[in-house]
Amino acid sequence: MRLGIVTGGGDCPGLNAVIRAVVHTAQHRYGDGVVGYRHGFRGVVEGDAVPLGVAETDALLATGGTALGTARYHPAEHHGAELRALTTLERDGVGALIVVGGDGTLAAANRLAEAGARVVGVPKTIDNDVPGTDRSVGFDSALTIATEAVDRVRTTAESHDRLMVVEVMGHHTGWLAYGAGIAGGAHAILAPERPFDIAEVAEALRRRHETVSYSIVVVAEGASPLPGTMDLGPRREPNGSIVAGAVGERVRSELAVRTGFESRLVVLGHVQRGGAPTPADRLLASRFGVAAVEAVEEGASGVMTALVGDEVGIVPLAVAATGPRAAPAALVEAAQVLVG
Ligand code: F6P
Repeated sequence: MRLGIVTGGGDCPGLNAVIRAVVHTAQHRYGDGVVGYRHGFRGVVEGDAVPLGVAETDALLATGGTALGTARYHPAEHHGAELRALTTLERDGVGALIVVGGDGTLAAANRLAEAGARVVGVPKTIDNDVPGTDRSVGFDSALTIATEAVDRVRTTAESHDRLMVVEVMGHHTGWLAYGAGIAGGAHAILAPERPFDIAEVAEALRRRHETVSYSIVVVAEGASPLPGTMDLGPRREPNGSIVAGAVGERVRSELAVRTGFESRLVVLGHVQRGGAPTPADRLLASRFGVAAVEAVEEGASGVMTALVGDEVGIVPLAVAATGPRAAPAALVEAAQVLVG
């Protein structure tokens, strides 16, 4: 059989490790060829394919981004695109398509499976919020980068006696904010799972500054104030995308006014999505790549790979569309205890 692979949605470290593992497994274990579609589902719809072999993909393991390119393109939003995607797969002799993506891309993959294609998904997102899997490819790398940033901000905050606000990604969930906030020892963590009261945050920081001269506040780009407590202002572009730094700057300026502390904002933005994957992401991506090909070869469709505990298995693709998967209450509670 010939396999196809496509990466869709925002990029993240570890995508290339998935591509490499898929090619290795298909070729070495099953003697199957692989083609890659470029720039997300647009490449499937438009038939933009490149042949992939072990020679082309072997050195990809430790590289960032995606060698296939990516796009936020969903066939369902373009007239006739799903049919054209099916036609491409048939024309290219592709018996099964492996789709690496976040919840939006995986929902599109599920629709393609329902339309008749054989499709297996692989979850990736630095936000770690795809339902059905304990981990998504890319999260560990972004968490490592964000935690290192908080560590670095600490020494300059301390030297200048400043309040530092660090904005991390996560428009629907706070996995990164809670993760980097706890691992980096932040003094307040604001994330979508728990709307914040800015007066309470300011008061807690004032109390802290009675004995310590600096603070670090980690805020997710999707954090929201309790209704009626603070006007956040516009934080979305007309096309719906998040304005980087919008929430971070509002939180910083409000805290500066309420506490009188000297303050600065650091927006990590796409730095969190760039560069080489961590060993944990290389490992997860490789395990998912192997499992995706095995699922395909066993005849599965409409499923995605998932990490549940220590085991990699498969779950229905439809689960991915039930998201986003919020950070668990116990993690949110732990964050509240630890920032005090
Ligand atoms: O969905 C992953 C994510 O990294 C979000 O955390 C972030 O808000 C968004 O992508 C940014 O997307 P873009 O690269 O399109 O600006």
